[in-house]
Amino acid sequence: MKINRITIIGGGNLGTSFAKGLLKLKAFNSQDIVITEKRPARISYLRQKGFNVQDDNNIRAIQGSDLIIVAVKPQQVHEVLDEIKPGINPEKQIVISTVTGISLSVLEKHVGKVPLVRIMPNTAIEILESMTCISFLNTSKIQEKSVISFFEQLGKALVIQEELMGAVTVLGACGIAFALRFLRAATQGGIEIGFGAELSQLITAQTIKGAAQLILENNSHPEKEIDKVTTPQGITISGLNEMEHQGFSSALIKGLLTSFNKLEKMMPNGN
Ligand SMILES: NC(=O)c1ccc[n+]([C@@H]2O[C@H](COP(=O)([O-])OP(=O)(O)OC[C@H]3O[C@@H](n4cnc5c(N)ncnc54)[C@H](OP(=O)(O)O)[C@@H]3O)[C@@H](O)[C@H]2O)c1
Repeated sequence: MKINRITIIGGGNLGTSFAKGLLKLKAFNSQDIVITEKRPARISYLRQKGFNVQDDNNIRAIQGSDLIIVAVKPQQVHEVLDEIKPGINPEKQIVISTVTGISLSVLEKHVGKVPLVRIMPNTAIEILESMTCISFLNTSKIQEKSVISFFEQLGKALVIQEELMGAVTVLGACGIAFALRFLRAATQGGIEIGFGAELSQLITAQTIKGAAQLILENNSHPEKEIDKVTTPQGITISGLNEMEHQGFSSALIKGLLTSFNKLEKMMPNGN
């Protein structure tokens, strides 16, 4: 299945990151990336970036697109799906929802038996480094293969049971914020021990990137890599143990659980 044209409904934070990532792929020119938006300021920002931006006439905007990406807020998705339903061609188009907490069966209730994909990406899609988890409904094997390879170009892609979408929302999508708060805190520590803010942030960001790459590329375990840098009676182990005495790992795990429990409470049927 060849993907030539994509419509993104909702040019907000994620929709814009998505569009910027697509442009980086070089497989699409900016006119093949159609974005619809409501806010005038966003419309002119996206136009400046060269995208094919249309207002919120979504039914017109999806015509001729192979993928229809729905990236609006959960409370807006029902209206958008009802609007586009008459314009969807189930033989040629796939509807992909990024919307948190809205299950494939709810999507199907609105648009009928069309090929549906639910994804949970993160904003690193902008730099082709998203972690995108995917679940399918009403799709053929060929469509599934095309969707997976499409998202593999935008970072890492993983097909998961839909029941895990809530968990990956917290770990993968909220995870960007959790990782960045760590980065920010370490940067502030770096300032206290001698670096200017800019340099401290650069050293911290590259160090975190390197640490993550060690795990991803070597398929290693964090504790194995930690053992390599913790000399007996050394400075690293002292700092690390002090962080644990202060509840470092526990705070992170509790934060993840708090986000997850809140998501479950807000969206009880969304998986
Ligand atoms: N941000 C993330 O990191 C992330 C990651 C994974 C998944 N998600 C999910 O992806 C979805 C989008 O998230 P977001 O952070 O990008 O939200 P957002 O910044 O609020 O973006 C949604 C945009 O869509 C616009 N919109 C609303 N109704 C529309 C319509 N009928 N036609 C065209 N545009 C319309 C909104 O305008 P108004 O604000 O004026 O209504 C807004 O600018 C959410 O469901 C979120 O849960 C987000």
